[in-house]
Amino acid sequence: MSRGTFYITTPIYYPSDKLHIGHSYCTVATDAMARYKRMQGYDVLFLTGTDEHGQKIEDKAKAKGVTPKAFVDEVVGGIHELWKLMNISHDRFIRTTDDYHEESVKKIFKMLYDKGDIYKSVYKGKYCTPCESFWTESQLVDGKCPDCGRDVVESEEEAYFFRLSNYSERLMEYYTAHPEFLEPTSRLNEMVNNFIKPGLEDLCVSRTSFSWGVPVDFDPKHVVYVWIDALSNYITALGYGNDKYNDFDKYWPADVHFVGKEITRFHTIIWPAMLMALDLPLPKKVFAHGWLLLEGGKMSKSKGNVVDPVVLCNRYGVDALRYFLLREFPFGSDGVFSNEALINRINADLANDLGNLVSRTVAMVEKYFGGTLPKEQTADAIDDALVEMASGLRDRYEAQMEKYAFQNALMETFKVISRANKYIDETAPWVLAKDEANKPRLARVMYNLLESVRIAAILLTPFMPDSCEKIFKQLGVSGELTAWESAQGFGKLPADVSVVKGDTLFPRIDMAKELEELEKAQAAARAAAEAPAEEEKAAVPGVAALIDFEDFAKVDLRVVEVKECEAVKKSKKLLRFTLDDGMGGRQILSGIAQWYKPEDLIGKKLIAVVNLAPRKMMNLESQGMLMSAECSETEVKLLMVDSSIPNGSKIG
Ligand code: ME8
Repeated sequence: MSRGTFYITTPIYYPSDKLHIGHSYCTVATDAMARYKRMQGYDVLFLTGTDEHGQKIEDKAKAKGVTPKAFVDEVVGGIHELWKLMNISHDRFIRTTDDYHEESVKKIFKMLYDKGDIYKSVYKGKYCTPCESFWTESQLVDGKCPDCGRDVVESEEEAYFFRLSNYSERLMEYYTAHPEFLEPTSRLNEMVNNFIKPGLEDLCVSRTSFSWGVPVDFDPKHVVYVWIDALSNYITALGYGNDKYNDFDKYWPADVHFVGKEITRFHTIIWPAMLMALDLPLPKKVFAHGWLLLEGGKMSKSKGNVVDPVVLCNRYGVDALRYFLLREFPFGSDGVFSNEALINRINADLANDLGNLVSRTVAMVEKYFGGTLPKEQTADAIDDALVEMASGLRDRYEAQMEKYAFQNALMETFKVISRANKYIDETAPWVLAKDEANKPRLARVMYNLLESVRIAAILLTPFMPDSCEKIFKQLGVSGELTAWESAQGFGKLPADVSVVKGDTLFPRIDMAKELEELEKAQAAARAAAEAPAEEEKAAVPGVAALIDFEDFAKVDLRVVEVKECEAVKKSKKLLRFTLDDGMGGRQILSGIAQWYKPEDLIGKKLIAVVNLAPRKMMNLESQGMLMSAECSETEVKLLMVDSSIPNGSKIG
C-alpha cells in the first residue's frame, strides 16, 4: 500500500556544455533519495531535465553553425546517455523547449501580467554591442565586457518586470512559520540578511536582445527571460497550464527541490514569490547542497578542471562512484574531489569492508556446508552485539535519510559491516569447523553474518542498486527478502538459506599504479573534449581555422552604396546605414561611430555581407554586416571600393 506521494526534483541543467561530476553529484543524491522513498512505499515522482533557452545557447549554436534546437538536441542526447550510465531512475525528464512547457510558461506570464505582478518598464544596464549582452556593473571586468573584453555602453531596453519587491514581508512570514523550508538552515540567514533585509528589487523577466526563448504571447518581440521559464518547470512537468500531464493536484507541492547552493536565492525567494503570486502552495523544502571543488576551485569547463564521470564509471563501476559521492562529502557542505580520495574510499569501504565480508561469508558457507545452512543452529551470547546492532540499523539509517544526511546513513550501515567483520575474528569459524560437534554453532555464526549482510544490502540499494542486486544473488534471496520491510529487526532470512558464490564485487585497486593511469585517462578525455574537430584546425597559427570552398561560397558579399548614415541614439559605437544593395535596399548597423562622421560616408561604396541572419541591436534590426579592417587595436577602417562598380555586384 502506498504511504503517500513524494515529489523530488533536481535543478534543470544548462545543456551548454558536457555535464561534469558536479552535476552528477546532485542527480545521484536525488536518485538515491527517490529510490529510498520508493522502497519505503511512497508513490515517487522524480523529475529532472534541461534548461535550454537563452543567449548563451543561441551564441553557441551560432558559433557551431547550427540552429539552437539542433544544438540542444545533441547535448541533451548526451545527458540522457550519462543518466543511463549512472543508473538514474528519473520518472520524468522535462526540456524547457518542450511544447507543453512553452505553452504553460506563456500562460503563467500572462496570468502574472493580468494580476499586475508583471509590468512593462525599461531595463538599464551596460551593453556590449558585439555580444548583444547586458551586464551589471559588478559583472564587468575592468569596466569591459566579461565575454569579449571590449567596451560596453550605457544602454536601456524595454522589458517586463516581476514585482518581487512586493513579497519581502510575506516571504519573511513564511520563513518564520516554516523554519524547515530551507536546509541547511544557515543558508536561510544568508537569504534574509543578504537579500530580504536590504530590500528586494523587482526582477527583469523579459528580453528583446535575443530571440531563443519562449515568446511573450501578447508582446512577441519579448522572450521570457530565464527564471520564470526555468523555475516553472517544476509545475509544468505536472501539467500546470497544459494537457500533457495531469498530476498537479497529486504531487504539488513538491516534497523537496535539491539545488546547488548558488541557486538557493532563486529557489527560496523568486520561486516562492512567483508561487504566491499565482496563489499556489510553496514547496515543502529546498535543500541546498554544496559544491564539489577541485584544487580549491569550483569545477568549470572554462577553468579546464572538470572531472568526467564517464571515465570514472568505466574504470570503477557506476556504483563505486555513486557511493563515493554520497559517502565522502556531507551533502550540505562543499567537498574537495580527488582521485586519491576516490580510490582510498573504494579500497577501504567497498573492497575491504563490504566486498570482503560478502566473499568470505559466502565462501565459508560453501566450504563448511556445501552452500546450504542446516536448520539446527546454536546461538551464543557473543552474537548479541552484532545482532543488536544490525536489528536497529534500519531505524538509525532512516533517521539520517529523513534529514537528507546521506553520509551519516552510509556510516551507520558500514558500522554494521565492520562489526560483522570483527565478529568473524571473534568467532573464528575456521577453528569451529575443525570439530563436527561445533556444526550447529558454526551454522549460527554463518547465519548471523548472512543476515547482517542482507540487511545492509537492502539499505545500500538506493546508493548501489546493481551491486546490491549481485549481493542478493550471492545470498540466494529475492522478492520480499530484499524489500524495505524485511530490513527491520533481525532473523527474517530463512535458517536453511542457500548461497551462490559470485564474482568479486569491488576489486582492490593498486593506488600508485592506478593514480598514474587514471590521470592519463582523464587527460586524454579532456583533450578529446577540447580538441577541435579536424575541419576546425587552423593551418597557420594566428589564422582562423580552415574552411572548405563550400563554406566560403555560403557568404554572399556585395558592393553597396551608402544612401543615409546617422548615429544611433544612446549608442556611442553604432552608426545606422541605409544602403543601396542593388536589390531594393537594406539597413545595417555597424560599430564604427568612433572612426567616422556619418555625413562623410554618404555616397561611399562599401562591402556588405548580405546573407547574415538579421540581428537586433538597440531595438533596431541590422540586415547584414559591413566589412572593415582592424588596422590596429585602436583603429578600424571600412573597406571602400571603386565608385565605378555597380551597386549589388557580387564579390567572390
Ligand atoms: O543552474 N558541484 O544550471 P547548471 C556541485 N539551469 N554541484 C554543481 C557543480 C559542482 N562542481 N557544478 C554545477 C542551472 N553544479 C540552472 C538551474 S533550476 C530551475 C535552473 C550544480 O547546469 C549546480 O549547483 O548551471 C546546480 O544546482 C546544477 O548543477 C545545475 O547547474
